[in-house]
Amino acid sequence: MKIPVGVLGATGAVGQRFVQLLDGHPWFEVKALAASSRSAGQSYERACHWILSTPMPEWARQMPVLPATATAGMDCQLLFASLPGDLAGPVEEEFAAAGHVVCSNASAHRLAADVPLIIPEVNADHLALIRTQQAGRGWKGFIVTSANCSSTHMTLALKPLQSAFGLSKVYVVTMQAVSGGGYPGVPSLDILGNVIPYIGGEEDKMVSEPLKLLGRLQEGRIQDAEIVISPHCNRVPVHDGHTECVSVSLGRQTTIEEISQVWRDFRAEPQALGLPSAPQHPILVAEEADRPQPSRDIHLEKGMATIVGRLRPCPLFDFKFVLLGHNTVRGAAGGSLLNAELLVAQGWIK
Ligand SMILES: NC(=O)c1ccc[n+]([C@@H]2O[C@H](COP(=O)([O-])OP(=O)(O)OC[C@H]3O[C@@H](n4cnc5c(N)ncnc54)[C@H](OP(=O)(O)O)[C@@H]3O)[C@@H](O)[C@H]2O)c1
Repeated sequence: MKIPVGVLGATGAVGQRFVQLLDGHPWFEVKALAASSRSAGQSYERACHWILSTPMPEWARQMPVLPATATAGMDCQLLFASLPGDLAGPVEEEFAAAGHVVCSNASAHRLAADVPLIIPEVNADHLALIRTQQAGRGWKGFIVTSANCSSTHMTLALKPLQSAFGLSKVYVVTMQAVSGGGYPGVPSLDILGNVIPYIGGEEDKMVSEPLKLLGRLQEGRIQDAEIVISPHCNRVPVHDGHTECVSVSLGRQTTIEEISQVWRDFRAEPQALGLPSAPQHPILVAEEADRPQPSRDIHLEKGMATIVGRLRPCPLFDFKFVLLGHNTVRGAAGGSLLNAELLVAQGWIK
């Protein structure tokens, strides 16, 4: 029997991606869809302006949209949440207190000391914080968060470098897709033929989240990694897929060949456990001089991999490279789905 799940924020850019990725999922079955009071009471088909390139799944069309409150009577232990950041804090807490497991995409709890911020290939061991969270807050349920989309892909590429060589400094310039801002996002007159050199809050997230993700669990607390990160974040007229130009200072001397091999060989718990949404290769190394590119490479490994390329020496740092990742798949809904699969595999969800 499949595990019944719900989606909070089901009508948004990330919520729709959840509905798409949960269609035919081997372990999970969607039993509840929730959104704002604007949508509640309508059928999903009516409330949702579907923006994905595959059709809305048949089973979702006539499902009623519920209000995103714990009193709405959602009969599912596991909830995927893609609510606006300012709202997510109290709503997710209300659901966790009511006994639900909340896999959240919002920033509200990512940096809380007792909330795991998880990329399963990077820090699966941080799930142990769940015990601290439940004991400290007196909850039967709990909250597990996934990172901001740009941080997720950068951290996936950095993890094997940190493990193999040590890592001290990261300089990154992002070119982020419009779907990263949700729907309808940036007005077309602001973004078409343009680059916007500012995304509110994004640079702070790219500084703090990778440090927690790459940090160490010690005596029930996360010790942040000691890495200096300097990001510039830009919104560009690309539909899906964030591109990031990254320079790194490593802890020891190495070569382009060795780094490429470390990336190619990178596997972790999701691959060992054979989780349904795990990519076979979490990091793909593009060989061509002009790749990766969003319109050509974003769907590799069904959007669950980080694609790196253009690795070369850096005269300011040690090495520089380009990475690409799908922002609403691995950077949001797909990442949360993999977190939930890990929770099931580790016995946190029965
Ligand atoms: N887009 C990305 O690439 C991405 C990546 C990583 C993380 N995230 C995070 O994921 C979350 C959702 O992002 P998104 O891009 O999907 O945003 P979005 O397209 O604006 O969707 C927001 C969703 O939240 C619902 N909502 C809004 N106000 C609400 C309220 N007062 N009560 C209950 N539900 C409410 C909306 O429902 P209605 O349709 O009824 O208004 C909609 O379903 C954000 O926290 C964002 O930072 C997004």
